[in-house]
Amino acid sequence: MENVVIFNHPLIQHKISILRDKRTGTNEFRSLVEEIAMLMGYEALRDLPLEDQEVETPLETCMTPMIAGKKLAIVPILRAGLGMVNGILALVPSAKVGHIGLYRDEVTHEPHEYYCKLPTPIDQRTIVVTDPMLATGGSAVEAVDFIKQHGGKHIKFMAIIAAPEGLERLRKAHPDIQIYVGHLDRCLNDEAYICPGLGDAGDRIFGTK
Ligand code: PRP
Ligand code: URA
Repeated sequence: MENVVIFNHPLIQHKISILRDKRTGTNEFRSLVEEIAMLMGYEALRDLPLEDQEVETPLETCMTPMIAGKKLAIVPILRAGLGMVNGILALVPSAKVGHIGLYRDEVTHEPHEYYCKLPTPIDQRTIVVTDPMLATGGSAVEAVDFIKQHGGKHIKFMAIIAAPEGLERLRKAHPDIQIYVGHLDRCLNDEAYICPGLGDAGDRIFGTK
């Protein structure tokens, strides 16, 4: 699976284990989601384009590489994807942020769109779509469909936990995107929750039920 990166870094694995613990409260959960997104982002953004710029050091003037232009867009899938945005913004503060609002129908588990706003123009940007959970893959596929319909080309999808079913569905639907997963879990249960997972990511980030 050459377009999939599954992280085995001990820091990421440790932090995901704390997320899974049902005793972890909202405050700590939120901080951990942000930290994991930053660690994953460090790797996911290793191909950001650079351009040499002139800088005067205390000793001399030199040409030295800087991130080229303001080319990054972060697009969280609402709600839970929002929790990952600040982690990536900590790495690239100038990134633009779009939003895609999707919720899963509790019975069919199919995604329903309720909000979409992307930075324009989107076609020249590297787009990082964030969502902590890749379960059936329905939300991820729909979000990437939408971004492509609006001209997005260079798309990366970042999930903290994925189910094998969702990862496969996203790979098949969008073989051209790069997918980053913090941990690949065992399976989905009958309610399409990831097992062992961490429960409902949106509720745990925002303290709702
Ligand atoms: C969760 C999660 C993903 C989606 C994953 O969102 O944050 O967006 O489910 O499931 P899928 O892969 O089967 O589509 P949810 O619909 O619960 O909305 P919320 O973030 O507003 O809680
Ligand atoms: N969405 C979540 O928040 N958790 C799951 O396990 C599946 C979908």
